[in-house]
Amino acid sequence: MIDLRSDTITRPTPAMRRAMADADVGDDVLGDDPTVLALEARTAAILGHEAAVYMPSGTMTNQVAIRAWTEPGDEILLEASAHSYFYESGGPAALAGVMCHLIPGRRGLFTADQVRAVLRPANEHFPRTKLVCVENTHNRGGGAVWPVARIAAVEAVAREAGLRMHLDGARLWNAAVAAGVTEAEYARHFDSVSVCFSKGLGAPVGSALAGQAEFIARARRFRKMFGGGMRQAGIVAAGALYALDHHRDRLVEDHVNAERLAEGIADLPGADVDPATVETNIVVVGVRGTPATEVVARLKDRGVLVLARDASSIRAVTNLNVSADDIDEALRAFRQVLAA
Ligand SMILES: Cc1ncc(COP(=O)(O)O)c(C=O)c1O
Repeated sequence: MIDLRSDTITRPTPAMRRAMADADVGDDVLGDDPTVLALEARTAAILGHEAAVYMPSGTMTNQVAIRAWTEPGDEILLEASAHSYFYESGGPAALAGVMCHLIPGRRGLFTADQVRAVLRPANEHFPRTKLVCVENTHNRGGGAVWPVARIAAVEAVAREAGLRMHLDGARLWNAAVAAGVTEAEYARHFDSVSVCFSKGLGAPVGSALAGQAEFIARARRFRKMFGGGMRQAGIVAAGALYALDHHRDRLVEDHVNAERLAEGIADLPGADVDPATVETNIVVVGVRGTPATEVVARLKDRGVLVLARDASSIRAVTNLNVSADDIDEALRAFRQVLAA
């Protein structure tokens, strides 16, 4: 099977497994797991932030950040299809008790003017707006990359209004490679940054939340409260450290594969994809005439796994476990299914 459902499906490589097996461990809830401490320090350094905390998932890092920046009844600003709103099981309402004010974006990106337009005057009738969330790359936006300048413009409006900035950087690594900037150049515009090791980087488990030391101490409290304190977590953190050292530079291969996949599909009569919109490792394909679930089933019969995104579009995500040859083979299957 050629698995293009997500970049989360990757299995650890033999070398990564060895690093995990050999990891020094302690009790991370007691603060003495050396491998977790090393991963947190390295992540903070890459992002140019003071501190970081390791957690089981990107959902948890996002939801802990939202909880730590707000009080119940506050409001946060998010793009309308942001992962934290769309795919995190109602976490902002259930865990932080906040209201989500949604900003409709284009491919997941919004503008500084849109943020300005939803600001509320201080008035006891209104919820207090606290946080602007940005997702980079944007998952439902098809892996779209935020230009740094646009983030800086959003930040300027947020700062003027006294709002905090949170980055859902599950795929910040991909964004940095695609934009040709460092992760820190993005991260410096934010008060908190969530990054995932278990997506394009190919580690089996975990995400980190970075920010100032005082904020990270508060986040650790919510990590514990949400059940995210792990004990000998160095075993999995070692996979993440290995991924940081060995799998960041290769992300460009995933981007090239995604572009080639999109170009190959673009000419098929049953498909609708503009390769120019494929900036990273996510390819969203509109399907005509056949329900997306049926297209998914037919591709599966031909050895290719993808996900239905909605009734009329599917999503293919290139990843560490998919080679250039696999893309050729996947294209053969796409041709058979979407040529008609
Ligand atoms: C943009 C984005 N943020 C957060 C997450 C959540 O990560 P996790 O699956 O580790 O909870 C995902 C997962 O795909 C994602 O795409």
